[in-house]
Amino acid sequence: MSQNRSEWNSSFAFLIAMIGSAVGLGNIWRFPYVLYSNGGGSFIIPYIVAILLLGFSLALLEYSVGYKFKASFSKTFNKIKPKLEYVAWFICFTVFLIVSYYVTVIGWDLLYLILSFFKGWGADPNLFFIDSILNQNNSIAGLFTFSPLVLIATILVWAMAWYISHRNINSGIAKVSKILVPLLFVMVIIIVLFSLTLPGASIGYSAMFTPDWGALLDLNIWIAAFGQILFSLSLGMAILITYSSYLPDDSKLVDNAAIVIFSNSSFEIFNAIGVFSILGFMSFTSGIQINELITEGTGLAFIAFPKVFNVMGDAAYILGPLFFACILFAGITSLVSLLEPFIDSISDKFGSSRKKTTTIICIIGFCISTIFTTGMGSFILEIFDGFLNNFSLLLGVLFECVIFGWFYSIDDLLEVINKNTSIKIGIWWKNVVKYVLPIVLSVLLLKGIYDSIFLGSPEEYVIKGILILLLIIVPIVLTKVKGKENSVLT
Ligand code: PFF
Repeated sequence: MSQNRSEWNSSFAFLIAMIGSAVGLGNIWRFPYVLYSNGGGSFIIPYIVAILLLGFSLALLEYSVGYKFKASFSKTFNKIKPKLEYVAWFICFTVFLIVSYYVTVIGWDLLYLILSFFKGWGADPNLFFIDSILNQNNSIAGLFTFSPLVLIATILVWAMAWYISHRNINSGIAKVSKILVPLLFVMVIIIVLFSLTLPGASIGYSAMFTPDWGALLDLNIWIAAFGQILFSLSLGMAILITYSSYLPDDSKLVDNAAIVIFSNSSFEIFNAIGVFSILGFMSFTSGIQINELITEGTGLAFIAFPKVFNVMGDAAYILGPLFFACILFAGITSLVSLLEPFIDSISDKFGSSRKKTTTIICIIGFCISTIFTTGMGSFILEIFDGFLNNFSLLLGVLFECVIFGWFYSIDDLLEVINKNTSIKIGIWWKNVVKYVLPIVLSVLLLKGIYDSIFLGSPEEYVIKGILILLLIIVPIVLTKVKGKENSVLT
C-alpha cells in the first residue's frame, strides 16, 4: 500500500496545508477569551513556555513518526504492535466525532456570512441566534424539532468537505489551502488595521495586554496555556502524523515545525488585537465594560459581534462579511485536515478508493451531524466538545507520547528529525517526550476528567455515557475487522 502512497508535490503544499489545519476556529474565537481570562499580557509567558515545551516537542514527535513510517495512522500503530491499532482508531474516531459538530458550527457561520450583508440578525442578535437559527429547546422534546436553516447549511458544508477531500491531497487539500490560507491572512490584516482606527479601540487592546503578574502563580493559567497550544496546533489529532507521512524524503522537519508554529501563534495574537479593538469600540459606544463583552466561541461570533455590527453603521457591511468569511475559510481548511486521518486509515486498511471512502465517511458524518441540527443540538454539541477535547483527545495524546517515548526506539525518531536540518535537536528532546510531556498531559487530563466526568446534569451523563460506549466499541470493531491485506495474508 505504501508504495502507492500520495506525496505532497512541494514542501510549500505541506506547509500551507499544515498552517490551514492549525489556524481554525480556535484561533479566531477561543484564543482572545483564553488570553483575557488568564492574566491578559502576563499569559504570554505560560503561552511561550507551552509552545517551546509542548508545542514544538510534540510537533517534532508527530512529524518524525509520520515521516519515518510513511503509512496511514492506523497502520503506523499496527506496525509497532498490532494491538496498538486500537489506540489509533480511538484517536481517529474521536477526531471524526469532533468533525461531526465542527461542520455544523461552520454551517452556522455560513448562515451568518449571508446575514452579515444586510444585518439580517435584527435588533436582538441573542434572541435571533437562539430562536431563529438554533430553534433551541434543551429538553428531550428538542430532539424531535429541527432547524431547517442549520440543516441546509450543514449539508452544504459536508458537500464542500467531500468535494475537497475526495480528490488526491495535491489537487484537493493543498490546492484549496493555497487559495484560502493567504486570503484568510490578508482578510485578517484588513480587519485588524481597520479595527485599530475605530474610536475606543485602545480600550480593548489595552485591556487585552494589561498584565496580571499574580495570575502566574495560578496552576489553572498554565493548564489553559498548554490546552490552548494543544488545541490550536491541532496536536494529538493524528493530523500531523498523517500529513507528514506524505512528505518527500528531503523534507526539513524542524524548519517545518518552526514555520507552522510561528505562523499559527502570530495569527492568533494578531487576530486577538482586532477582536479586542472591536470590543473596545463597543465598550466606548455603549459604556459596557470589556469583561462583560468578552465571551468565547459561538457567543463571541454569533451574538457579541452582531451586536457590535448593529451599532457600527455602514462599515459593518464590509467588516461583518470579512469577519464571517475568515471563520469560514479558517474552518474549512481545518475541517479537511480533521477528516484526513480517518479517510486515509480506512482506505489503507480496507483497500477502498479515496473517493469511495470519502463518500461513505461524509454520509455517516452527515447522519451524526443531523443531531446538531435539532432543537437540542447546541446543548449536545457543547457536551461533545467538552468531553472530546478535555478527555478523549488528551487520553489519546498521552498514549501517543508513552508509546513513542517508551515502547519505540525514540533514538530512531531523533535521527529522523535531525536528518535534513541545519538546526540540530539535542537529546533534551527525548527527555521532554519521555518525562515532561507525560506529566504535563496527565495534569491536563486530570483536570479534564474532573470537568467532563464529574460535573454535569443527568442528561449530560446520558450523552457522555453514549460517547464512552461508542469510543470503546467502534475502535474495537475497526481493529478486529480484517483489512484487505490481512485477509489476503490469512
Ligand atoms: N487547530 C484548529 C483550531 O484551532 O480550530 C483545528 C481544531 C482544533 C479543530 C481542535 C477542532 C478541534 F477540536
